[in-house]
Amino acid sequence: MTLPHLISINDLSTSEMESIFVLAQAYLEELGDVQSPSRIGRSTEACRGAIMATLFYEPSTRTRLSFESAMIRLGGSVISSADPRASSAVKGESLADTVRIVSGYADLIALRHPREGAAKLAAEYASVPVINGGDGAHEHPTQTLCDLFTIRREKGALSGLNVAVLGDLQGGRTVHSLVYALARFGATITTAPAGGLSLPESVDWRLRNEFACERLSGNDLGVGTPVGATYRPRGQTTGNRPNVDVLYLTRFQKERASQEIREYPRVNRELLSTPGLRNALVMHPLPRVKELDIALDVDPRAAYFRQASYGVPIRMALVAHILEHSSAQASTSGGHLSVAQQSDFVCANPNCISRDIVEAQTAPPKFVVVAPRRLRCFYCEHDTPAR
Ligand code: NCD
Repeated sequence: MTLPHLISINDLSTSEMESIFVLAQAYLEELGDVQSPSRIGRSTEACRGAIMATLFYEPSTRTRLSFESAMIRLGGSVISSADPRASSAVKGESLADTVRIVSGYADLIALRHPREGAAKLAAEYASVPVINGGDGAHEHPTQTLCDLFTIRREKGALSGLNVAVLGDLQGGRTVHSLVYALARFGATITTAPAGGLSLPESVDWRLRNEFACERLSGNDLGVGTPVGATYRPRGQTTGNRPNVDVLYLTRFQKERASQEIREYPRVNRELLSTPGLRNALVMHPLPRVKELDIALDVDPRAAYFRQASYGVPIRMALVAHILEHSSAQASTSGGHLSVAQQSDFVCANPNCISRDIVEAQTAPPKFVVVAPRRLRCFYCEHDTPAR
């Protein structure tokens, strides 16, 4: 039986995403008035009797609490391990053993982990569906569902948009899931990385080779460093400088960085008065640090609190979808050729779960051949040139 795990945003087809958005819209309850609106999940009994385990090995506010709130709003229950210091991980228990055990306690697992590929490893050993709540710098697919839902509501559609992504594009996992999804919806993506923190090579390669994007050097947003790039659907020609529909900013991921960074893009009223940015919806997965001016909070273009508030209805829809499809065939990302186990070869990403001394016992190096001389780690999807 293939379980409907959600490890990468690419595990969902666009029609599955669309059904999740339609369901989330039905679960969304808007209260209050224009001055003080609030958006919550409507209480249902859709998942009555079901139990979700939240296993969080990394700090979280929005993701874990909105998962838990979503499950309770669906009529289900939650068991939670939110502090790795209070779990058997400190005694040296592997993630594989933990999820095998937790599979007997819950009907699905939402996992956050500091290592890339951890969610994939968990899905190999769990006997219930695993949802990736963020695995190192790899991906954060449920944040992307919130992001897309926000854009769809506020811009009316998801296809053919101009989206600028700013900040730490290397360590920011939300951006990786987001750019794949945007490319699949035919967006033009402009990147403005904070000094040197561009999209990882593997993400760039996939956009160009698997998601039909053409990369042009540079961006003309006036922020970030000149190493920015523009990815547009292959074959599309750009006319005049396009108006940006969405400006998506992320914080510096200091917990994953090897050094401090001096310059960082800052989004404020002044930047938004630049021609081309005047109609941009401002989005941020939060938490923000200094990159997003709090003076923008009252600006109607500031969508980040609305974006966060959609976390509950979106996760309600996702959980209901996954539990309903628990015994059905899951979609897979890409039609890759084969998975080869390579005991004499290690993943080139030092933060891959397969490089962790405890986890390596249950995560032997495994690669997918994605192109001649290009091996993709089965766990973290970091590409390594083949020998
Ligand atoms: C993000 C994350 O954890 O990747 N937060 C979130 O889930 N909304 C972004 C971040 O931590 O910067």
